[in-house]
Parts: sequence; structure tokens; C-alpha cells
Amino acid sequence: MTDTTPAYTGPQRVFSGIQPTGSLHLGNYLGALKKFADLQAEGHDCVFCVVDLHAITMPVERGALIDQTRQIAAAFMAAGVDPAKSVIFAQSSVLAHVELAWIFNCVARMGWVERMTQFKDKAGKDAERASVGLFTYPVLQAADILAYKATHVPVGEDQKQHLELSRDIAERFNREYGVPGFFPLPEPMIKGPGARIMSLKDGTKKMSKSDPSDLSRISLVDDADAISKKIRKATTDTGVIPATAEELKGRPEVENLVGIFAALSGRSVESVLAEFEGKGFGVFKPALAEVTVAHLAPITARYRDILADPAGIDRVLADGAGRANAIAAPIMDEVRRVVGFWRP
Ligand code: TYM
Repeated sequence: MTDTTPAYTGPQRVFSGIQPTGSLHLGNYLGALKKFADLQAEGHDCVFCVVDLHAITMPVERGALIDQTRQIAAAFMAAGVDPAKSVIFAQSSVLAHVELAWIFNCVARMGWVERMTQFKDKAGKDAERASVGLFTYPVLQAADILAYKATHVPVGEDQKQHLELSRDIAERFNREYGVPGFFPLPEPMIKGPGARIMSLKDGTKKMSKSDPSDLSRISLVDDADAISKKIRKATTDTGVIPATAEELKGRPEVENLVGIFAALSGRSVESVLAEFEGKGFGVFKPALAEVTVAHLAPITARYRDILADPAGIDRVLADGAGRANAIAAPIMDEVRRVVGFWRP
């Protein structure tokens, strides 16, 4: 059946968010941060959010949240997001997120949210003890995006299911309230070899902030020695670098390292394979370490400089809060009218 619902025709906007929980790693950089900077460079209207409301769905060390929020804002800038061009702000400073999340809690269906695999992963075996916020986390994520009527969302592969839920919520809101094309159906931007960076120790698990082994991830604050050591110790097999991407299948650790090389050097997997075909890891790993250090060193240096001036970060966040509010406020006015709330 062809969909005859009128589509959203408003302006295009990029939105994405990162949680202020733990230090960022290469997966966050390649899956998200690097794309943020690239999209800004292409001239898109971009809004980037430190999602502190999401962070409190899991236990946070008391008193740590403010600094973690500043750290993520600093990482946005270190990766190349320019606060003069893009909006950088903390989610809790724009109340539209919370208000729209409530409305969307009443649009989303229990069955939709119950299907979310990230809740199952994070809640673990004892889901009864998880916060209610952790359960409705993806609904708040939909509100983040749609409070700005964002059309494009750069994220890593692990966010695909949450983005599908955002589209379902937007579609149902438009239909239930009889406002076709009111909310855009946000497009996930996931493509490319950086979208799913795996653990350096186990190619079947994603690189993650919560992995107990520090050797499993390259952190954005690692120095050149730490990076080289982690790559040297990365799990591989006894084979050599193959000639084709097809032959990487079934060799997840090797596929991951080749993917990291490609993503960091802005090359295709095929071109990396063509260069290293038939070579062993004694050759490939040092080359990968060199590419990684060369790419990350300036970012790490900028990150440290920015962090040394917390008042400067606070100015960026305050300015961003004002600009984000200015975008969301008229959209929320329309939402209240559409839902039928009393207004003065
Ligand atoms: P978070 O904070 O867990 O991760 C931030 C971003 O990093 C990406 N990422 C990865 N990409 C590739 N390989 C990996 N191993 C890897 N690990 C993490 C994530 O996909 C994400 O893009 N729910 C989101 C935050 C969020 C959000 C939003 C994102 C809240 N509201 C609205 C987009 C739009 C999250 O937990 O990200």
C-alpha cells in the first residue's frame, strides 16, 4: 500500500545527544562525534545535547554529574563542533524535553517500549529493580529529537532501534491528533565503518564505557603510549589481512581493526585491504596505532585545553540553552495547541 500521508516539509535539522556517563571512547568518536563535526562542516543546522536527564536513569556518583556534563560539552568542541555554528547545551536546561516526553509517554504503546533491547541489556536480570526512567528512556530520546523537529540524527548502530521508536511515535502523534506532517520522521544517519566499533578484546561485543577491561577500549584521553599498547594487545587471529571485505566475515576482531583504520583515515575498507593484503598483524597493528595517534592526538590536546577553562564551557552551555529554548518554545506552543491543553 502506498503511503499517502503528507510528509513533513519544514526545514532540515540535525540533532544528536551523548550521555554524561564515563569517559568517551573511540566508538563514541567514530559513531557520533566525528559525524557531528562533519555535518556541521557541510553547513547543516545542528543541535548537540549533553543528555543529563538520560544519565540519571542509572545510578550516578553523587556530585559528579555537573563535571561529567562539562566533559561531554568539551568533547563536542574538541572533536570540532564550533559553538558559534552549532548549538551545544545540557538537556536539563530546556524543559521542553521533559514536557514532550510526558506527552510521548501517552503516545507510545507499552508493547513498543517493551521490545527495546537496550533496556533489557542495561536492566539485566533484575528488571524489577530498574528505574521507571530507564524503561521510558527511549521515549525521552524521541522527545529530544522532536522538540526541535529534527530531521536527521547521527548515531552509532546501537541506537537504531531507538530511532525506529522515535519514528513510530512521530507517525502516531501525527495520525492520532490529525496533524499529518506535523512532526518529521527523523532519519538515522548510521552508515560507514565507524557505526559499530567493537571491543578490542572481543570482536563480538561493542566497545563500551561499561566494559570492565580498560584494554577493550581506546579512550579519548589515552596518550600515544596507551593507544599503541592497547592496539598491540588487541585480540586477533593467526591469519593475515585478506584481500576482500567478504573474507573478513567470521573474523570479527580483524574486521573491527580494519574498520577503525578505514574510519579514521577516511578511506574505504577495500582500499585499506588493498594496501595491507597478505601482511601480518606485526605490520598492520603499528600502522593502525600510527593512524589512531595521529588522528586523536590533536583532539585530546584540545580536549585538555578546553577542560582547563570550566567557566568557558559554562558560557557555551548557557548560550546553547538559550538558543535551544528559542527553537523548542514555538514548537511546544504548537504541540500544546494540537494536544488541546488549556492555554491563556
Ligand atoms: P551514548 O551516550 O551511549 O553514546 C553516544 C553515541 O556514541 C555511539 N556509540 C557507538 N558508536 C559506534 N561504536 C560503538 N561501540 C559505540 N558506542 C556508542 C552511540 O550510538 C551514540 O550515538 N541514547 C543515546 C543518547 C541520546 C540520543 C538522543 C542520541 C539521548 N537522546 C537523541 C540521539 C538523539 C546514547 O545512549 O548514547
